[in-house]
Amino acid sequence: MKHISIAIDGPAGAGKSTIARQIAKELGFIYVDTGAMYRAMALYFIRNDIDSSDSKKIEEACPYVNVSIEYKDGEQLVILNGENVNGLIRTEAVGNMASAASINKSVRLKLVELQQDLAKKANVVMDGRDIGTYVLPGADLKIYLTASTKERARRRWAELKEKGIDADMNEIEKDIESRDFRDMNREFAPLKQAEDAIYVDTSNLTIDEVIQKILLYYQKIN
Ligand code: C5P
Repeated sequence: MKHISIAIDGPAGAGKSTIARQIAKELGFIYVDTGAMYRAMALYFIRNDIDSSDSKKIEEACPYVNVSIEYKDGEQLVILNGENVNGLIRTEAVGNMASAASINKSVRLKLVELQQDLAKKANVVMDGRDIGTYVLPGADLKIYLTASTKERARRRWAELKEKGIDADMNEIEKDIESRDFRDMNREFAPLKQAEDAIYVDTSNLTIDEVIQKILLYYQKIN
């Protein structure tokens, strides 16, 4: 049986995970957060004192990293070598390592297989950077979700403030720019809009407006 897949790609801070999660809930699909998988691998590299720029060590470590996914009450759990690491992968350090380590082909190939497998087994809304272009090129609906760098930095700043963390807006903006650069310029499966993806700029839209827009696009393909 052919399953339906919706690919949502875009740069950091565009609102992909919030939106993808809610769309999946609305449609009764499974939400697949691929960034969490890169973060789990990053946690392994950090724990093993591997430098984010040491591609050789990263490559050598890959066969020892096993990432799998489970679902509990509709929430995705990321399992790293048998351990549920969901609560450990949302730190800045893990995010930075994930951004740097994900340029390595061996890291990506390992996770792409897992992602394609999930889409074979169920209807999915999958978010990431290369879903529409590389992981699921035949996805039924592809969305390229973005927002201005300033707006993405403002959102990140507000998120940190909510957690009681005082951050510098200019620093956040610089960090977002360097993550964008790495994602868009890596050799293997870089972030770019798929030719058949719909471009959605969320800078001036509420979360709800974005969700309604995407659900409308979904209705059109049915
Ligand atoms: O989306 P999130 O911030 O959790 O992703 C962490 C990092 O993993 C990103 O900075 C990005 O470089 C990388 N990533 C990727 N391809 C994906 C998902 C995430 O390269 N499909």
